[in-house]
Amino acid sequence: MSGPGNRAQWASNLGFLLAAAGSAVGLGNIWKFPGKAYEGGGGAFILIYIAIIALVGATVMLAEFIIGRATQKNAVGAFCQLRPAWKWVGGMGIFTGFIILCYYSHVGGWVLYYLCGYLTDAAAISADPTAYFYRMLGVGSGFPWGGAVLFPLLFAALTVFVVVKGVAGGIERLNKVAMPLLFLLLILLMVRAVTLPGAMDGLRYMLQPDFSLLTWNDVLVALGQAFFSLSLGMGIMCTYGSYLSREENLGRNVGIICTLDTLVAVLAGFTVIPAVFATLSASGVGKGAGFVFTAMPGVFQAMPGGVFWAILFYLLLFFAALTSSISLLEGTVAYLTEQRGFSRKRASLVLGVILFGIGLIYTLSQGHADIHGIWLDKNGISYPIFGDMLEFLTDRLLLPLGGLLFCIFVGWVWGTKNGIAEVRQGGRFRFPLAGLWSLLVRFVAPAAIACILIAGIVFGVTLS
Ligand code: TRP
Repeated sequence: MSGPGNRAQWASNLGFLLAAAGSAVGLGNIWKFPGKAYEGGGGAFILIYIAIIALVGATVMLAEFIIGRATQKNAVGAFCQLRPAWKWVGGMGIFTGFIILCYYSHVGGWVLYYLCGYLTDAAAISADPTAYFYRMLGVGSGFPWGGAVLFPLLFAALTVFVVVKGVAGGIERLNKVAMPLLFLLLILLMVRAVTLPGAMDGLRYMLQPDFSLLTWNDVLVALGQAFFSLSLGMGIMCTYGSYLSREENLGRNVGIICTLDTLVAVLAGFTVIPAVFATLSASGVGKGAGFVFTAMPGVFQAMPGGVFWAILFYLLLFFAALTSSISLLEGTVAYLTEQRGFSRKRASLVLGVILFGIGLIYTLSQGHADIHGIWLDKNGISYPIFGDMLEFLTDRLLLPLGGLLFCIFVGWVWGTKNGIAEVRQGGRFRFPLAGLWSLLVRFVAPAAIACILIAGIVFGVTLS
C-alpha cells in the first residue's frame, strides 16, 4: 500500500504495532536480558531496568516516532527536513544500526544452526553442549563452514528477502504471523520451565532484589540494554514511525510496545533462569554470547521431552531475531533508497553482503578466543574481545548517546510544542501525559542518560 507521494506505509495500525514490537522483541530480550539480569543480582536489576524503560525508554521512543511521522522520512532525511545541521545524528544512528546488524545476523545464523541441529541430530548437541557450541565456531574442528558461513548467510538472506518485499508486503506480513506465534511459544516454555523441580530457587533469585550486588556498571548495562531492547537511539523507530499514517495514536502505541517488550524480557528471564537453576547448579548460569547456546541445551537435556522443547525454544529465538534484524536492515535501506537513490533491492543486497563479511570476523573471534585468544591474550587470559568491543561501542555508548541527542533535539531544538502537536493531530487524540512527557524529554531523560553514561564510564566499566 502506498502513502502520499507513493511512499511506503503500513497497511494497518496493528501491522505497525506488531512490526515495532517485532523490532523491539529480539535476541536482546531472550539472548541478552536473562544473563544480564542474573549478573546484576536478579530482582534488583529488573527493577532498575523497568524504571529506566518507563522514564527514559518510553520518552525516547515517543520522540523518535514523532520525528519520523512528522517528516515521513528516514532518520537522516527527517533531520535534514527539520534542522539540516543535525543530520549527522541520523547518520550516526544508521552507522550504529549497521554495526549491530553485523553481529546480530550472525547470532541469528547460530540460532538456525541449533534449530537444524535439534531437528536432525539432537544427540550430538546433548552429548556435550559446550563442545558443540565451540565446534560450531570452529574450535578444534577446522574452518567452521556451517556456523560462520552457511547458516549466517542463510539468515542474512532471509533478512534481505523480507526487506526487499517492502514495508507492508514483507515486514508487516511476516510480523503478523511471527509475533503472535512468538508469544504463544514463550508462554508454553515458561510454564514448562517454572514447573520443573528446583525451578523455585531461580524464581526466588529473580524476584528478590539484592541491591548489594548492583554496581554502577550494572546501571549502565541496564540503560544500554533498555535502549537495545526497545530498538532506540539509532532512528529505527523514527523510520518505522514514518510509515505510520496520521490517523493513529502515537502515545498509545508507545505504551503498548514498551509494555510488550518488557513483558517478553521479564518472562524470558523467568523462563531461562529457573530452568537453568533447576537443571544445572547456580554456578552453571553463564553469560555472554554462548549463554543460550551452552546453558540452554544443558537444560533441555535434563528435561523429559527436551528435544521438543529445544525446538520450540530455538524457533522462538529465530522469529525474535528475524523480525529485529529486518528492522535493523530497514533503517539503513530507507536511508539509501530515499537519500541516495538506491533501489530497495540493490540497497538490501549490497548491505547484506557487507554485513555478512564483517559479521564473519565476529563469529570467528568468538570461536578462537578460548583457544588461542587471537584477539587479545594477556597473561594467558583471552577474551572474545571483538564481540565485546562491538557491544560496548553500540549498546553502551552510541545508543544512549543517540537517545540523548534525540531528546535534546525534540526537547530543546525543534521543541516539545511541535512534538505534542504531532501527537494530538489538531485535537483528534488526547495526550493527557503531554506535560509529563515534556518534562521527561527535556530534563529527566537527558540528565539520566548523561549521568549514567558518565558514571558508568568513570566508575569502573567492564567490557563484558
Ligand atoms: N531490539 C532488538 C532486540 O532486542 C534489537 C534491535 C532491533 C535494535 N533494532 C534495533 C537495537 C535498533 C538497537 C537499535 O534484540
